[in-house]
Amino acid sequence: MASIALFFSLLTSFLFTSTMAIASSNQNPTSFIRSSCSRTLYPGLCCASLWPFAGQVGTDSVLLSRFAMNVTVSRLKPLSAKISSLRRRASLAPLSSGGVVTSAMKDCGGLISDAADLVKKSEKELTGLEGMVGPEVTWRIANAQTWLSAAITDEGTCTDEFGNGDGEEFERVRKKVKRAEQLTSNALALVNCLVNS
Ligand SMILES: *[C@@H]1O[C@H](CO)[C@@H](O)[C@H](O)[C@H]1NC(C)=O
Repeated sequence: MASIALFFSLLTSFLFTSTMAIASSNQNPTSFIRSSCSRTLYPGLCCASLWPFAGQVGTDSVLLSRFAMNVTVSRLKPLSAKISSLRRRASLAPLSSGGVVTSAMKDCGGLISDAADLVKKSEKELTGLEGMVGPEVTWRIANAQTWLSAAITDEGTCTDEFGNGDGEEFERVRKKVKRAEQLTSNALALVNCLVNS
């Protein structure tokens, strides 16, 4: 009984070690990023956002996904502050500009700040993953997948709430939230690649 369990845990760690080894074959960093990004929904955005880190990433697929998450956090952070200030301004504006916008913005600021926390937490969860084996690897990747999916849901709810015709500045912010959602989706796809190589 115990030896069967041991066998499976060895098998699992062997499988993980081999998928990670395949993922970081001897490509150069730029083509490694391009081929990893080709498995995301927004490959152009993925490459453009990650090429600046090619030197640091090398051909490490865990590190690549962690940089993708940090890039996402760096986009989300200023957005939640921006949304709060837009909301304050909207709440001072005459009623004709719409109380609906104000309440949507209130929710949106909170959703974006939650999303930033979830993505940040996911990056931390995968830190040091290369040195771990077996069930802990599986568990940590699954946590990151869950949290990144939840972040995408938050971002999607936020863009839905913006609606149309809320003015030029609102439209600019809505586009930025949309972009952050695409970056989160890419980060999730890169995490998924750690298990389905
Ligand atoms: C991501 O950001 C965190 C917090 O700033 C930092 O500790 C971590 O090293 C960064 N990760 C990468 C891969 O740069």
